[in-house]
Amino acid sequence: MTTVLIDDIALLVTHDEERPEVREAALLVEDGVVAWWGEAASAPSADTRIDAAGGCVIPGFVDSHSHVVFAGDRADEFEARMAGRSYEAGGIRRTVRLTREASDEQLLATATRLVAEARAQGTTTMEIKSGYGLTVADELRSVRLAATLTTEVTFLGAHVVPEGDRDEYLDLVTGEMLDASAPHCRWIDVFCEAGAFTVDESRRILEAGIAKGLGARVHAGQLGLSDGVRLAVELGAASVDHCTFLSDGDVEALAGSDTVATLLPGVEFSTRQPWPDARRLLDAGATVALASDCNPGSSFTTSMPLMVAFAVRDMGMTPAEALWASTAGGAAALRRDDIGHLRVGARADLAILDAPSYVHLAYRPGVPLVRRVLSSERRDTPGLQQMQEYGKLV
Ligand code: NIG
Ligand code: FE
Repeated sequence: MTTVLIDDIALLVTHDEERPEVREAALLVEDGVVAWWGEAASAPSADTRIDAAGGCVIPGFVDSHSHVVFAGDRADEFEARMAGRSYEAGGIRRTVRLTREASDEQLLATATRLVAEARAQGTTTMEIKSGYGLTVADELRSVRLAATLTTEVTFLGAHVVPEGDRDEYLDLVTGEMLDASAPHCRWIDVFCEAGAFTVDESRRILEAGIAKGLGARVHAGQLGLSDGVRLAVELGAASVDHCTFLSDGDVEALAGSDTVATLLPGVEFSTRQPWPDARRLLDAGATVALASDCNPGSSFTTSMPLMVAFAVRDMGMTPAEALWASTAGGAAALRRDDIGHLRVGARADLAILDAPSYVHLAYRPGVPLVRRVLSSERRDTPGLQQMQEYGKLV
């Protein structure tokens, strides 16, 4: 058994129902799992000590929505949007062209760099979608590459219809492409929006994935009101993502379900759309998550602290709500209960901030406040369950 004690924590965020925050705290990890926390004065001894140096300790961010397997960038589209152009789903096809031309090594190098970038900013779990291949071979390699970086892999063959016949593509995405990709995935997703897939098409695609044993997630309500939100709830999707445009009925349906409303404010920043209304969802009783949506078109950032800052500044969330949404909320959107919190029994995935409180994540936007990131994600070594810092055992 290996024990690690993290002490001199000014503020520890546990997300425990009775004691969600502890001041002047310490936290004990045994074989990669949280075994104890409480006041530093009563901390047990351990094999190793990590000094949080008066910083705040938070659960690692759970980024439940990203598209980091791609090639090229679309900075020109961003520049045009800042000058008044609007976002168009069709831009996805530009990235598809470049992604198909790239080698496996190039795609993996970019995705690995982006995952490392996210990790340095406190993300300890990252969902990764395919969706820039859109042929059987290109989607298969995207999910395979993603599976080398995360266990939370999503098949998004239904990102847009590529050039060619629509009906044939629908047959492919619910048939051969799904069959090839599903063994490497936990989830299926569809972009249910004008310019991408209709509600009926989305239903067919999601049902095909569910029949293959995949969990459902949906992109909906990004560019306008859509019945995609209600479809997600009806099919028991783990999450419906974007939710920028929601009717009162959508909000009510979400609140009465266990489908998480995942908000992606990097998109609103990068497309000049209205911010999603987190307050409305929270007041109605819906579960809200925050995620980066890292992709080259609508949100080219891996920064979860930035999502927290947007949510607090412009979406009506308190700092505590935004922190919960970006950690426990992301875990709920991935239907995980071992991450996103630091209660006893949690996987010891956490970030030590260079700040006395998580409020600083929004109060000091754009500042690299994440000092250390520790994760106990099980690696290749069988039986190894110990905290690591950038691949080094602690
Ligand atoms: O979540 N909305 C669909 N997919 C991405 C954007 C992809 C792109 O523009 O390349 C999103 O915003
Ligand atoms: Fe997305």
